[in-house]
Amino acid sequence: MIVRIFTVAVLLGLAAGPALADDFKALPEGPGRDVAVRICSQCHSPEIVAHQTLDAQGWKDLVNQMANNGANGTDAEFDTIAKYLATAFPAK
Ligand code: HEC
Repeated sequence: MIVRIFTVAVLLGLAAGPALADDFKALPEGPGRDVAVRICSQCHSPEIVAHQTLDAQGWKDLVNQMANNGANGTDAEFDTIAKYLATAFPAK
């Protein structure tokens, strides 16, 4: 009986899909998401980015603006974040 309950629990867990490591539901899965969460949550919720859509240049500029605000990251990390955001929240 206990084994059965365990099996059902495991199956339910699988059905729920891979669990995200955090609660930022506004941020879709994608390459660079982890970097964005790590660097863009230093000052405010990283979900703030979900309030707008921008083209690739727009996200680049915004990420640069945050770097000027004092965001801590390397050029490569900011580049990764800008690409992730341009894919996740493209201009409409
Ligand atoms: C050092 C602190 C800091 C970090 C780290 C930071 N931000 Fe910000 N962010 C701010 C401040 C301060 C504001 C509000 C003032 C402003 O707009 O510059 C803001 C506002 C914003 C806004 C809303 C403002 C607008 O113009 O729509 C967005 C979107 C945003 N940040 C995205 C990001 C992203 C993406 C990252 C990661 C690359 C990031 N932030 C990292 C300080 C930070």
